[in-house]
Amino acid sequence: MAAKRKRGLFITFEGGEGVGKSSQIKHLARKLEDHGLKVCITREPGGTPGAEIMRHVILSGAAEKLGPNMEAVLFAAARADHVDEVIRPALNRGETVLCDRFYDSTRVYQGATGNVEVPFLKFLETIACGDDCHPDLTIVIDLDPQIGLKRAEKRRGKSAVPDRFEKETLASQKARRQAFLDIAAQEPDRFLVVDGNGSEKEIATRIFDVVQQRLNLR
Ligand code: TYD
Repeated sequence: MAAKRKRGLFITFEGGEGVGKSSQIKHLARKLEDHGLKVCITREPGGTPGAEIMRHVILSGAAEKLGPNMEAVLFAAARADHVDEVIRPALNRGETVLCDRFYDSTRVYQGATGNVEVPFLKFLETIACGDDCHPDLTIVIDLDPQIGLKRAEKRRGKSAVPDRFEKETLASQKARRQAFLDIAAQEPDRFLVVDGNGSEKEIATRIFDVVQQRLNLR
């Protein structure tokens, strides 16, 4: 009988707008691939054709009038498809999954700053992720939202319209930054909080040191 393949590591990246998640995901993927690992890069909301449609509905603001509870439901529906079609299969093939945002974004954007109740969010997490598809490691890149929003503006081009969440006030973005730190403090074994102020290379090195340790430990 063939030996059972070792499940891959599920790593999520979190933080406010423009903190540099996507660059760090690329750095980490390259380093892991240099070590011979197969890496699956994905993002939320999205990652499957169906979830990308939901991404458009949510980020265009079309669902905003339904309120934060229903937006949380839409994020969870997109997540369920993403988990079933992409994340779980990749982990079962032994790949390391690097996901740009996951349910901690829902806990922060819809929960802490949208006032959606925690038991409701937990229920949605269970429906979307079952009991086997939760992040092993979550990297929060922590950065002053004033810097992050400027970067996000530069990335999309000054004249383009900010999305449903980017357009919110600086006070909301500050509250989200604090909420990510609070959530991280509740689960210190799962979270790594990284200062987003260093150079891209410095941050990448810090992240890789921790990931390497986790991979060796398993
Ligand atoms: P995106 O353009 O991917 O932003 P970023 O580059 O900052 O990751 O847009 C995703 C937006 O959706 C972002 O503002 C965070 C928000 N979001 C939620 O509100 N809840 C969620 O569960 C997820 C996954 C994202």
